Amino acid sequence: MNDYRTILEIITEVLNGRNLNESFASNISELNNIGKIKDVSYGLIRNYYIIKTIIADMVKNAPSDIRVVAILYIGIYELEFTKKPAYAISNDLVELAYEVTDDVKLKGFVNAIIRGFIRNKDSIIEAVKSKTEYKYNFPIWMISKLKAEYPRKYLEIMANSSIEPKLALRVNLRKTSVDQYIKQLDNDSYTYIDNKIILNNSMKIEMISLFKEGHVSIQDISAQKLIEIAKPNDGDDVLDACAAPGGKSCQLLENCNINLTSMDIDNERLNKVRQNLERLELSATLINADAATWTGNKKYDFIVADVPCTASGTMKRNPDIKLHRKQSDIAQFVRTQRKIVSNLWALLKPGGILVYITCSIFKEENHDNCEYFIEQLSMVKKISELNILPTEYADGFYYCVLGKEKHADL
Ligand SMILES: C[S@@+](CC[C@H](N)C(=O)[O-])C[C@H]1O[C@@H](n2cnc3c(N)ncnc32)[C@H](O)[C@@H]1O
Repeated sequence: MNDYRTILEIITEVLNGRNLNESFASNISELNNIGKIKDVSYGLIRNYYIIKTIIADMVKNAPSDIRVVAILYIGIYELEFTKKPAYAISNDLVELAYEVTDDVKLKGFVNAIIRGFIRNKDSIIEAVKSKTEYKYNFPIWMISKLKAEYPRKYLEIMANSSIEPKLALRVNLRKTSVDQYIKQLDNDSYTYIDNKIILNNSMKIEMISLFKEGHVSIQDISAQKLIEIAKPNDGDDVLDACAAPGGKSCQLLENCNINLTSMDIDNERLNKVRQNLERLELSATLINADAATWTGNKKYDFIVADVPCTASGTMKRNPDIKLHRKQSDIAQFVRTQRKIVSNLWALLKPGGILVYITCSIFKEENHDNCEYFIEQLSMVKKISELNILPTEYADGFYYCVLGKEKHADL
């Protein structure tokens, strides 16, 4: 019951608007079966729109206690997506409902809904199967948006955003080589895609071979594209302006001999950069500042602006984005992204490179912003642009490389 209570706490918090990763991290303890809690809470949120549609069809007046709604969602999730026997699910959840509400009526209500679903599952599914949110397991506004932006790819994008993510590794070339690292992995434990290692089974980070020793880091394979797309020269002054937790900063230091400054507005997150640098035995100057206003006292040859965004390319990793993101958030992110890049442009030397990056798949944050930068920034030229859609193995990412002319056209 302890694990169920933890799952219930996480689902209730997420339904109330809390970030899933944060809620998960703050609710689990050593007393829990962490694997089970992760499977159920992430699995449920990943399949939220299917589950929500079923419950909406069965329960005309939703209970005002959000914990009861969460218990019903857990029940439908377990009945539809796990192998746990139906009788055990209904017994456990009815008991949980009574434990948390102390209300016999609510216990009876949960019992009726869960048993009702077990009894009439086929007809219930028949009644909801053509409903849009059920069919696509996505909120309606995102379905319409993705369909409009990617008429031939939107189904694939949604499917690839609803599966469990894979763990990808980045090898620290300062300590080892990809070939050397692979030698001590079991042949069937990894897949090699795009010259990058993907683990076939998820595992605790500490269990990854030579992770603590700094030979590898976790980084999605689309996020690892940076140095293939644009690379600073030896000796360059480089600014990673939105750096935490430090994936791109560390990748740059592992591959290039540069003087790196890593900045982030969030000091706590900046500590993660510090920890990663220490583990990998790399060094950078860390600055806690706002990239939209920071002026500094020097100019840079190469700037990375991996800006805050809707993170819509990472929905398989962060499934609560489907629940929490509103369409109106996009414009807010775009405003911040434009402010950050406009400010950073003034910090770029003539002849320098700025790489604009998002983990979004929405065009306002990506191509539209690139057009805006070309129009608004002085001495700018577009060098390249790459829009990566989510795949079975990787997140969606967007890269736009902008160059600053050496001399303004007269
Ligand atoms: C997408 S994450 C960066 C990921 C990082 N580049 C990596 O590869 O690990 C965006 C980061 O931008 C930071 N951020 C948001 N607004 C910012 C601002 N105005 N100035 C600097 N950093 C900002 C957030 O705290 C967050 O750590």
